[in-house]
Amino acid sequence: MTSEPAISAPSLELRFRDMSRTDLPEIMAIENISFPTPWTEAMILREFETPHSVHRLAEREACVAGYMISWLTPPEAMIMSLAVHPQLRRQGIGRALLSDSLKFFHSTGIETVWLEVRLQNLAAQSLYQRFGFREAYRRRSYYQDTGEDAIVMVKKVSPT
Ligand SMILES: CC(C)(COP(=O)(O)OP(=O)(O)OC[C@H]1O[C@@H](n2cnc3c(N)ncnc32)[C@H](O)[C@@H]1OP(=O)(O)O)[C@@H](O)C(=O)NCCC(=O)NCCS
Repeated sequence: MTSEPAISAPSLELRFRDMSRTDLPEIMAIENISFPTPWTEAMILREFETPHSVHRLAEREACVAGYMISWLTPPEAMIMSLAVHPQLRRQGIGRALLSDSLKFFHSTGIETVWLEVRLQNLAAQSLYQRFGFREAYRRRSYYQDTGEDAIVMVKKVSPT
């Protein structure tokens, strides 16, 4: 893990848009500090070439505040990654990113959303539970870096 990336004082406004290649340095700085085994630059770049990848970010004062990568394989979607800048956590940005993508999933007819979360990642589990995700099953010792179980969570996207 690296030191925390610098960011200017936050204002309240958040802007949502698709990720682009020029965001990569900021995304990697957040990624590296957020996960025990971060995605590499090459892995994130591959998302831009993946037709079923939806890669969104939240920007605040022209800085990347957080991002979320999902794969859409209708009628299902899979959340692949979600992270918020460490200095901007607990301000509703994770919730806003999830909400942004879930709205998009709904507009494309997605019916079921899946994700994996580490057993000890109580912050993320709490966030997902608040959105109605429920544990479907566990994968024992799934994460090679820590040996943690993965909790597989699922949510039905309700029709309007
Ligand atoms: C998980 C993560 C994305 C949450 O982002 P965030 O912007 O801080 O979350 P929000 O402020 O939108 O919080 C929404 C809810 O999530 C839960 N939550 C977030 N951080 C939490 C924490 N540290 N402890 C407990 N619950 C937490 C709470 O239910 C919270 O609602 P509340 O603030 O009303 O209590 C962020 O902590 C993060 O980037 N973590 C590292 C990467 C990661 O674990 N990603 C998820 C991989 S599955």
